[in-house]
Amino acid sequence: MRTQVAIVGAGPAGLLLSHLLDRSGIESVIVETRERDYVEARIRAGILEQSTTDLLREAGLGDRMGREGEEHRGIYLQVPHERHHVDFVDLVGRRVTVYGQTELTKDLGRARAAAGQEIRYGVRGTAVHDLDTDRPYVTFTGPDGATERLDADVVVGCDGSFGPCRAAIPAAAKQTWQRTYPYAWLGILADVAPSTDELIYAWHPDGFAMHSMRSPTVSRLYLQVPTDTDLAEWPDDRIWDALATRLGHGQDGWTLTPGPITDKSVLPMRSFVQQPMRHGRLFLAGDAAHIVPPTGAKGLNLAVADVALLAPALTALLKDRNPALADAYSDTALRRVWRCTHFSWWMTTMLHQSGDPFDQQLQLSQLRWLATSRAGQAGLAENYAGLPIGL
Ligand code: PHB
Repeated sequence: MRTQVAIVGAGPAGLLLSHLLDRSGIESVIVETRERDYVEARIRAGILEQSTTDLLREAGLGDRMGREGEEHRGIYLQVPHERHHVDFVDLVGRRVTVYGQTELTKDLGRARAAAGQEIRYGVRGTAVHDLDTDRPYVTFTGPDGATERLDADVVVGCDGSFGPCRAAIPAAAKQTWQRTYPYAWLGILADVAPSTDELIYAWHPDGFAMHSMRSPTVSRLYLQVPTDTDLAEWPDDRIWDALATRLGHGQDGWTLTPGPITDKSVLPMRSFVQQPMRHGRLFLAGDAAHIVPPTGAKGLNLAVADVALLAPALTALLKDRNPALADAYSDTALRRVWRCTHFSWWMTTMLHQSGDPFDQQLQLSQLRWLATSRAGQAGLAENYAGLPIGL
């Protein structure tokens, strides 16, 4: 098999890249280890920055998002007995949209299927080869057990942190940075109307809590828990009790309405960056190159920002034989990656209990400053609502 761009991974980054390339007349084939149903059902992020929604609309992917996504002006930041609204629209003129990654992945999958995109789901043993030449290729075993070879001009790794692409860059040619945080999130999805109009991020001595949502009838909530948490020790009542305490049920007349929990999981929290995001004819995008902790909802948006740079860069490289944008891709993308890595680290360390009383005082001071300073809020808003693509 031969194509122009071989894409490893059919998550949002890989699907969006194939869509944008197709619109500029570049052909691609996607290989994915999971089955389509799994990819479209996994529960992930839920907040899209304005730069993300603008790009999706321009790419003709905004119809259902426009109908079902919910636009938010800002977020609530909370310490016990005080809840403050940070209004992004007032502060920086930008808003965010609540639309689950699950829904976006389905929209992308449908758009690609309608365009006749070749996507090979359920493959095994994916490996990338000859990246230092201009004839790289990908090998994999199809669901029928036959080994296949996909030749391309360029290979793009959109295969997340455990895929083969990141690892294929030789150790001598790369640098990595990592931070693991000494806590995790217990996340739930519940069939109940959200108890808030916009997201609540709550600092609490028992640990961080957050109230998010997926739709007018589905709530998504999180609790800070120890990294070794066993879900068996968290029956539904215990989860709702902890959420009620940390989110301030009963304060100023606010109530948290519990409901049936449909999904429960423990999410690790870490920061990771690998650079460069290109090696020869291999380019990395999204989680394959960087991981952020979920506080601040940057992961999906960052993947979209990578792809927004990469699609025109590959188009110029393959159509016009102009390598300038492709050569600049890694440096340009990494500027935003490090900004978001810092922002996610800052939100995370400001809101979670670390066990250190000195940290607690710094956190409370920082949150007091955010509650009272327009300059502080504007900094948060600028980062949260999304910097322009190509920052
Ligand atoms: C979510 O809805 O899953 C979500 C929202 C905001 C975050 C993290 C996760 O900061």
